[in-house]
Amino acid sequence: MGSDVQSLGYFLFEVSDLDAWDRFLIKVIGVERGEALAEDLVPYRTDDRAARILLREGPADDLVALGFDVPGEGAVQRLADRIHRSGHPVEPASEDEARARGVRGLVRTFEPGGVAIELCHGPVLAKTPFRRELVRTGFVTGEQGVGHLALRADDIAKTQSYFEQLLSFDLSDHIRCTLPGDFEVDITFLHVNPRHHTVALGTGIPKHLHHFMLQMGSLDDVGAALDRAFAHEVRVVQGLGRHPNDHMVSFYCVTPSGFECELGWGGRTVDDSTWNPTTYDRISDWGHQSPYRRPPKRRAELGERP
Ligand SMILES: [Fe+2]
Repeated sequence: MGSDVQSLGYFLFEVSDLDAWDRFLIKVIGVERGEALAEDLVPYRTDDRAARILLREGPADDLVALGFDVPGEGAVQRLADRIHRSGHPVEPASEDEARARGVRGLVRTFEPGGVAIELCHGPVLAKTPFRRELVRTGFVTGEQGVGHLALRADDIAKTQSYFEQLLSFDLSDHIRCTLPGDFEVDITFLHVNPRHHTVALGTGIPKHLHHFMLQMGSLDDVGAALDRAFAHEVRVVQGLGRHPNDHMVSFYCVTPSGFECELGWGGRTVDDSTWNPTTYDRISDWGHQSPYRRPPKRRAELGERP
């Protein structure tokens, strides 16, 4: 069965401090503010599209919706019908909602955890090119979509089934290990295009979102972003490191909403004709240490991850 979902088109976050997010996105990450498309959503760009990150003001400080690109209105409808027949709610969305998101149309459904899954067609391009003022090599998007995310899944099998059976995702791999302090890690990684994973599913996450990831075109751009994070006193919770499964060299910092943002470079891609899902016993091959680490004994006493 061919996949109807092509890629992750946008993130929609509800945030309590729009000004702090504006500074974070523009001055630290290096994304650019888009031209306002509607009053209630503020669009940001990571490429030539009108909106890749959308902010709505509100108390949740969490992920509200994920926009997935589907090739055309007919494909959106076929996919919506498939999801409806499987017993999941499907809601139409207005033209105003589509315009606000920088797409021509969308249908809304919900993953088992309650995050809106917006099936979109007809992404709108901005009137001007992405300027790459801070991120000289730009962000890796295109067929790989805007990036990836780690989503809370209280029942991983159920959420995995939703993404695999309804949205045509495939398993990339797992990471399963126990960190000092008996901190159990069990993450399932799923892909829907060559990006190693678009969605990672994990438990024990207080919000819907653990982190979202944007990939840059060079390691120098990631390093410059790390410098900007320190310069702007953004809390860097994991310094540079490399993950064993997607090979991404990345660091993690805390957004103004409390969930994290991963900025990376060098992620490998998946070729479905040769891919074999495996299980890794570690989160990182090297690095990803906290710059604010306490001594190991004290961390174990506090139940902190290493
Ligand atoms: Fe990640």
